[in-house]
Amino acid sequence: MTRPTHTLILQSTKIIAPKVRHLVFACEGEETFNFIPGQFITLHIPHGEKPLNRSYSIANTHQQGNLIEFAASYVEKGVASELLFNMEPGDKITATGPFGRLILRDEKPARYILIATGTGVTPYRAMLKELEKRLAESKDTRVLLLFGTRIPEELLYADEFIAFAEKNPRFEYRACYSRHNPALLKPHEYFGYVHKALVDFKPDPQTDVVYLCGNPNMIDDTFAKLCEHGFTSQSVRREKYISSH
Ligand SMILES: Cc1cc2nc3c(=O)[nH]c(=O)nc-3n(C[C@H](O)[C@H](O)[C@H](O)COP(=O)(O)OP(=O)(O)OC[C@H]3O[C@@H](n4cnc5c(N)ncnc54)[C@H](O)[C@@H]3O)c2cc1C
Ligand SMILES: NC(=O)c1ccc[n+]([C@@H]2O[C@H](COP(=O)([O-])OP(=O)(O)OC[C@H]3O[C@@H](n4cnc5c(N)ncnc54)[C@H](OP(=O)(O)O)[C@@H]3O)[C@@H](O)[C@H]2O)c1
Repeated sequence: MTRPTHTLILQSTKIIAPKVRHLVFACEGEETFNFIPGQFITLHIPHGEKPLNRSYSIANTHQQGNLIEFAASYVEKGVASELLFNMEPGDKITATGPFGRLILRDEKPARYILIATGTGVTPYRAMLKELEKRLAESKDTRVLLLFGTRIPEELLYADEFIAFAEKNPRFEYRACYSRHNPALLKPHEYFGYVHKALVDFKPDPQTDVVYLCGNPNMIDDTFAKLCEHGFTSQSVRREKYISSH
C-alpha cells in the first residue's frame, strides 16, 4: 500500500542513554501525523545517487499534532547514525509511513508479554495509553514488559515504565542486563538475556500473546525458546531491527 511522504523538520533532541538520541520532528505543512502505536516510519537518508531507507519505531506516547518522536541508537560508521546524531533543530529530512504490524490487535489475551532489547522498547512506550485502557477494561488482563540492555544506564524511558507500573499494578516491568554486575541487581532486575528471564514467568500459549522487538538474534533465540513452550507464530509478533541495504 502506498503511504504518504512527509518532510520532517527537527524540533529538538535529547541524549537519553549512552549512544541513544531521542529526536522530535514536525511534519511540514501537516496538521496531524496519524499512526497506530507500534508502527514505524522510514527515513530517506541522502547517500550518493540513491537515498538509503532506514526505519525507526515511533516513540510518541500519544497523538501530538504533527509531531513524530523516535529514539536512534548510534551504530559505528552507520550512514543514518552519522546523520541523525549530527542533525540540528531546523534541519529537514523526508520519510514515508507509518508502516508496520507490531500493533495491538483487537483481541483479549489474559497476558501480553512485551519483550525488547535496546531501542526496540520504543513501540511499547507508544502502546502504554492503549494498554492502560485494556488493563482498565478487564481485571483479568496482565502485561509483562521484559527489557534487555547491557547495563542499567541503557534502560530507555525507565522512569516512565516504572511510574506506569506503579499506577497499573497488573503491569510488570523487568530489566535484564547482559553486562552488569549480578551482585548489584535490584529486585525487579535479572542478569542475562531476556529469554533466560522469560522462563521464570512461565510463558503459556493458552493465555499469552508475545511481542518481540529489537536485536534480530534476540528475536530468533526468544522465538525458539517460546516454541519449546508450545508457541507458534500465531501468538508471537516480531519486529527485527535490521538495516535494509
Ligand atoms: C522496522 C524497523 C524499525 C527500526 N527501529 C529502530 C529504532 O527505533 N531505533 C534504532 O536505533 N534503530 C531502529 N532500526 C534500525 C535502523 O533502521 C538502522 O538499521 C540502524 O539505525 C542502523 O542504520 P545505519 O545506517 O546507521 O547503519 P548502517 O550503515 O546500515 O550499518 C553500518 C554497519 O553496522 C552494522 N549494523 C547495522 N545495524 C546494526 C546494529 N543494530 N548492531 C550492530 N551492527 C549494526 C551494519 O551491518 C554495517 O556493517 C529499525 C529497523 C527496522 C527494520
Ligand atoms: N558496545 C557497547 O557498549 C555499545 C553500547 C551502545 C550501543 N552500541 C552499538 O549500538 C548498536 C545498537 O545497540 P543497542 O544497544 O540498541 O542494541 P543491541 O546491540 O542489539 O543490544 C541490545 C541488548 O541485546 C543483547 N543481545 C544481543 N544478542 C542477544 C540475543 N541473542 N538474545 C538476547 N539478547 C541479546 C545485547 O547483549 P550483548 O551486547 O551483551 O551481547 C544487549 O544487552 C550496535 O551497533 C551496538 O554495537 C554498543
